Amino acid sequence: MLDWIENDAPVSHDTGDGTNDATGLGEIDRSGGRVTVSDKAMINSRADVNQLLPLKYGWAWDKYLAGCNNHWMPTEVSMQADIALWKSRDGLTDDERRMLKRNLGFFAASESLVANNIVLAIYRHLTNPECRQYLLRQAFEEAVHTHTFQYIVESLGLDEGELFNMYREVPSITDKAAWALNYTKHLDDPNFATGTPERDQDFLRDLVAFYVVFEGMWFYTGFAQILSLGRRNKMVGIAEQYQYILRDESIHLNFGIDVINQIKAENPHLWTAEFQEEIRAMLRDAAELEAAYGRDTMPNGFLGLNAELCEQYMHFIANRRCGQLGLAPVFNEVENPFPWMSEAMDLKKEKNFFETRVIEYQNGGALSWD
Ligand SMILES: [Fe+2]
Ligand SMILES: [Fe+2]
Repeated sequence: MLDWIENDAPVSHDTGDGTNDATGLGEIDRSGGRVTVSDKAMINSRADVNQLLPLKYGWAWDKYLAGCNNHWMPTEVSMQADIALWKSRDGLTDDERRMLKRNLGFFAASESLVANNIVLAIYRHLTNPECRQYLLRQAFEEAVHTHTFQYIVESLGLDEGELFNMYREVPSITDKAAWALNYTKHLDDPNFATGTPERDQDFLRDLVAFYVVFEGMWFYTGFAQILSLGRRNKMVGIAEQYQYILRDESIHLNFGIDVINQIKAENPHLWTAEFQEEIRAMLRDAAELEAAYGRDTMPNGFLGLNAELCEQYMHFIANRRCGQLGLAPVFNEVENPFPWMSEAMDLKKEKNFFETRVIEYQNGGALSWD
């Protein structure tokens, strides 16, 4: 019934031409043939991973270009209004402060977890140069996101130890980080290599845990929390930064979905009924962990936002992610309680922030290098 090799040893991809190493750091094959599009593959590729062209996956290259077009830095956003509000006695309620701090604490370490997973786990096993080109761009964006939390901590004078340790000290945040790390630990093993169905599925699980769940589900309730404050004119600097992060993350998520679907298309034997059920269970678990986090961060709720609405939003998002992966929904159909989130993602409606800055950069570049 099964036509793949049923053992734990990774399949050798040695084609005899020396272009089989996943890292691209092996010995150079001086007499190998040139790369053709048909040699390229998402995982377990036989093609030299050091050659971007010829492109096979236009969608990966397009996302790289889109990421570059979205360049921003947190320090370009003024924090004056946020500082004044944070320091004023009654600008924010205790509930809003609690939510804000935990939200920042969740993101502060999560951006690094995501970055480490890309650089130390995913990059090694995704054997396609155009996808790696995007991963390099994404890795930089995660650094910009981590920078955002450093900048917020510094601007508001927050306790950096408290914030950056929340992922270890606040159980509802630790539970989420621990859940995701459970899926990357296989890949973290220096002896791990894809090439058997079991290990290829390990790789897919990691992609689902980080791209679909971490960046594609958990981050979204985090964005909703902060953008809901911003809609009421509170912490508008942070809300603006979160909008730029959201724009980046929506590309990260869509890249992850494309990667998973492409691996499925190239390796249909991995996407068994049993495995599909496992992925659906992962999304269901992840939504429950998020609901617990919502109750912990918003025990009382406030205008337009509470734990119940966040749980409903997570059900809506989890079903959407299932659809994007070609899976049946995991929850009963629910309405999106935050329809304004899709507007928040469309930054083209924003005034002229980016246009102004891009012109400045071009001028600056010309002056420096001429
Ligand atoms: Fe990020
Ligand atoms: Fe991301």
